[in-house]
Amino acid sequence: MTPIRTVLVVGSGAMGSQIAMVCANAGLTVACTDLDQSALDRAESMLRTRMESNVAKGRMTAAQRDAAFDRLTLTTDRDTAARTADLVIEAAVEKLDVKRSLFAELAALAPDTAILASNSSSFVPSSMASAVPLPERFCNIHFFNPALVMKCVEVVRGPETSDETMAAATAFVEKIGKTPVVLEKEIPGFVANRILGAVRDEALRLLEGGYADVVAIDTACRTALGYPMGPFELMDLTGIDIGYLVKKQRFAESGDPADEPAETVARLVERGDLGRKTGSGWYTYSESGEKQGLNPL
Ligand code: 3HC
Repeated sequence: MTPIRTVLVVGSGAMGSQIAMVCANAGLTVACTDLDQSALDRAESMLRTRMESNVAKGRMTAAQRDAAFDRLTLTTDRDTAARTADLVIEAAVEKLDVKRSLFAELAALAPDTAILASNSSSFVPSSMASAVPLPERFCNIHFFNPALVMKCVEVVRGPETSDETMAAATAFVEKIGKTPVVLEKEIPGFVANRILGAVRDEALRLLEGGYADVVAIDTACRTALGYPMGPFELMDLTGIDIGYLVKKQRFAESGDPADEPAETVARLVERGDLGRKTGSGWYTYSESGEKQGLNPL
């Protein structure tokens, strides 16, 4: 099993940028790519602020931070980075056709020994692996938001994923200081998001049934169940559009009305209130990211 030393992360959004930083902090050489330089600039500025805070809190030295940034390249030149990658982690938009064509292109560029992985939790490995010539080298490696903080990383085997790929992906997760949770058989949502989805759906039912408001439901989850944040606060963190797209995909597959996105969620997405990243979702946020109050529906 070849150890993973060089990683390409495709996508510099909230997930991709932090996944790349986690890898660089762990001593790996990383390229994080995006189509557009302004997205990379935003990612770099966010990562520099986060790492500055780690240095201020004594979690890393300034020299360790600088070394990590030396190992991290934020670039629009995806193709050059792909040619030397031992592992490619795709963290692009949650749209299957986009992911499939991305993987087809990446498979043609990356070495045959490279592992191709998606950070998606809504699309199972087999739905993307069929777009590449070596599906045995494909699996999902699914991080949680915020990836710099959350320990769990799910490693998901598709029907054709080899034992060697699973072992290398799991060793990679351990190497970057995360806790691997291995799924031996694929199922959309994997473990954590399926459980989270059940909680979120119930929260939305309670809200839309008029039983309790957003603040009350979030407060109950925090103060009765010990959750670090309530389901509405969490949707704002992860992006309301992400959950919406996942539900749309589930509905397209199942045709079950229970899988349709909730009406309130659809309304927020139509308005462009996508959570923290747009400054408003269920709540509104200041420029510096402080929660301000409820966003009227
Ligand atoms: N990015 C990076 N770091 C962040 C962050 C972010 N967006 N938000 C908070 N942090 C860091 C803070 O900087 C802080 O670090 P410090 O210890 O150096 O000060 C640390 O996290 C704790 O933050 P706070 O003190 O501000 O606030 P909390 O104690 O509430 O912690 C939290 C924030 C870690 C986000 C915590 O509320 C939490 O664990 N929430 C639940 C997150 C969760 O459920 N994630 C899974 C989402 S589902 C998912 O990701 C699936 C995917 O498919 C979309």
